[in-house]
Amino acid sequence: MRKRAAQKMTKDRRPQGADRAPSAAEGHELSPKATHFLRRSLAGYRPYVPGEQPPDGEDWVKLNTNESPLPPSPKVIAAIKAATDESLRLYPSPTAASARQAIAAHFGLDAGQVGLGNGADELIEMCFRAFAGAGDRVAYSTPTYPLLDPLCRVHEATPSIHPTSEGWTWTPELVDDPAPLKFLVNPNSPTGTHHGRMSVERVLARSQGVVVLDEAYVDFAPESQLELVGRHPNLLILRTMSKSYALAGMRIGFALGNAQLIAALDAVKDSYNLNRLAIVAAVAAIDDEVHHRKIVDYVVSERGWLEEQLRELGFEHSPSAANFVFVKPSRGPSAAAVADALRERRVLIRHYDREPIAGWFRITIGTRDQHQKLLRALEEVL
Ligand SMILES: Cc1ncc(COP(=O)(O)O)c(C=O)c1O
Repeated sequence: MRKRAAQKMTKDRRPQGADRAPSAAEGHELSPKATHFLRRSLAGYRPYVPGEQPPDGEDWVKLNTNESPLPPSPKVIAAIKAATDESLRLYPSPTAASARQAIAAHFGLDAGQVGLGNGADELIEMCFRAFAGAGDRVAYSTPTYPLLDPLCRVHEATPSIHPTSEGWTWTPELVDDPAPLKFLVNPNSPTGTHHGRMSVERVLARSQGVVVLDEAYVDFAPESQLELVGRHPNLLILRTMSKSYALAGMRIGFALGNAQLIAALDAVKDSYNLNRLAIVAAVAAIDDEVHHRKIVDYVVSERGWLEEQLRELGFEHSPSAANFVFVKPSRGPSAAAVADALRERRVLIRHYDREPIAGWFRITIGTRDQHQKLLRALEEVL
């Protein structure tokens, strides 16, 4: 009876349209209607499908898109409110100058070593525009961030994909790939794997092109490779304010690298890629180190707690240095069935149904209360 009621509610209130992702984490083929005007070279194109984003205000335990469980800094909210005035009539600074300066000062770099993007996603796309066009190889490992495959299709670049070896680690083939553009996601998503300094430097030394080190999750990891900026002219680090700064809704990403690489990104960017409110939010967020530390410490501590609880429930887990855990139940229904049953209980997680990660779940670190709801739901479902 309770289940039927939950199902009915889910059915009625299920978000429709673009926000309703399919249960699988991967893209799905477009309908013939959608492809009608699409250029021929995109035949069979599978767009990236973001995780489900239910309407605000509904009571979901949302652990599917690696957002922060804690709110943004009150100083950020105040800065956004203060900037919400008649100046919105004017375009923003095309270079997001104040954000560049604040981020550069924070990391001890020159403003010329910092680029801004409308989320790290836009910076990833700008890397294709700047460094790899039609027919160029783009190297990365798999499993990794599933945005890279569709971007290769859109830019008609040739993906050079290297399956990871034992423990989701990079292979010599990836290290030595001579592609003009190579992506390393570190810590990786969805596996949470973190490679240390030596592994990253080996890739940098043996690569012939630009190496983009996507450090979206690095604040939750033991070390970042920030110190390598300036030492390796081919290194471009990407960061985001969507995770450890709790600003996914503002869309702020930044790139750190040598000035030539940043100039190349700037040359291909959209004119005003950060809006006025995002620029002030970025400055306030980077300045509030205390709040940032509070979010990071909370997430790291809850990650340890959740891993332990899931282990006790019989889950296999892959060590995660990110704001999510990557786990696999040892028994029970298929991953899709578990994810669907959790969804009926208004708990959203990400699951995978392709090898080599079939049966695995990526669960974002939430609050203790959300974790307890998740665990109760898992006990019922499994
Ligand atoms: C590895 C990785 N890079 C980049 C991003 C995108 O970050 P942003 O929200 O800044 O676009 C994500 C988002 O989840 C991610 O997982």
